[in-house]
Amino acid sequence: MDYNFIKQLAEQGFLFSPTSMGMTRSDRTAWQDTLLTVSADEDRPDPTTRHKKYVKSTPPTFSYPGGKARMAKTIVALAPHSGRLYIEPFAGRGNVFWKAAGVLDYKEWQLNDIRTADWFESIRDHGHELVVPDCTRMEYNKRLADSKNGCPYARMLEPFFTYSGAGFGSGSFRSNKYGGSTQGGFQQSIQMAQHILHATGATITSVDWKEALAGLGADDFVYFDPPYLDCNVTAYRPSDLDHEELVQHLLEAPYRWILSEYDQPLYRNAFGAPCLQPKATTRHGAPRVECLWKNF
Ligand SMILES: C[S@@+](CC[C@H](N)C(=O)[O-])C[C@H]1O[C@@H](n2cnc3c(N)ncnc32)[C@H](O)[C@@H]1O
Repeated sequence: MDYNFIKQLAEQGFLFSPTSMGMTRSDRTAWQDTLLTVSADEDRPDPTTRHKKYVKSTPPTFSYPGGKARMAKTIVALAPHSGRLYIEPFAGRGNVFWKAAGVLDYKEWQLNDIRTADWFESIRDHGHELVVPDCTRMEYNKRLADSKNGCPYARMLEPFFTYSGAGFGSGSFRSNKYGGSTQGGFQQSIQMAQHILHATGATITSVDWKEALAGLGADDFVYFDPPYLDCNVTAYRPSDLDHEELVQHLLEAPYRWILSEYDQPLYRNAFGAPCLQPKATTRHGAPRVECLWKNF
């Protein structure tokens, strides 16, 4: 995908419109009033105009606990360049997918996640309609209430409003003091993400990882980024899956895969030394080594 082309379109004021790929599961009547109130607020600058000045020429990134935005380039460089299907069974906020879509050549794309599938659907179907509000506690509280009614705008805004991008119900309010995207930057990211979802025609599913991988073959590629074996984040849990079952599955997989995990005996014993140990990170004061394994 040519990000410069997307940039040029955005600079010309093009708002990426959705195709008829289906709607989200939300009940629109519950949050319609809030949307109209936000859109009709004329005191604020129009973000669709403002964002043009800063439009990005790189893939979007979205904060998320365990998100791989910083490692995406490295991971994508190791992936097979082409094939039939590219799939992420633990897609999170798609930080590797956004990069992969611009570099790799696959006929089909699929994003699966038991917790974030409707975030992708919201972007795909409503990204062009989003007006990113100020990052204030009052606006956060409004979106928190809307999110309980299935509002796709509130859902899209989770990485913008919540600490670590964990989401309403998991992450607390992220004030501007703690970094994160600007209003204009976030708006651009959502628009680019919507464009990428439409350009790739990515299928979005919300099933257990094993179900998403049924029937894959040698021409397919899977990027695995499961919850860390010993993770302790609020957005998801290590108990979301059986890690030993995952290892057994990977040993027998008929397709090509890359796995992200910390350096754990479970993985070393099964797959040997990691193919890459990019760098040690620090989590809760302890050094952690983020590793990659692959089977090709
Ligand atoms: C580490 S995050 C993925 C982050 C992603 N690579 C990114 O960069 O944004 C792991 C994801 O796996 C999902 N997940 C956990 N257990 C799952 C399961 N059994 N089937 C499908 N998805 C699962 C969680 O909801 C979470 O979003």
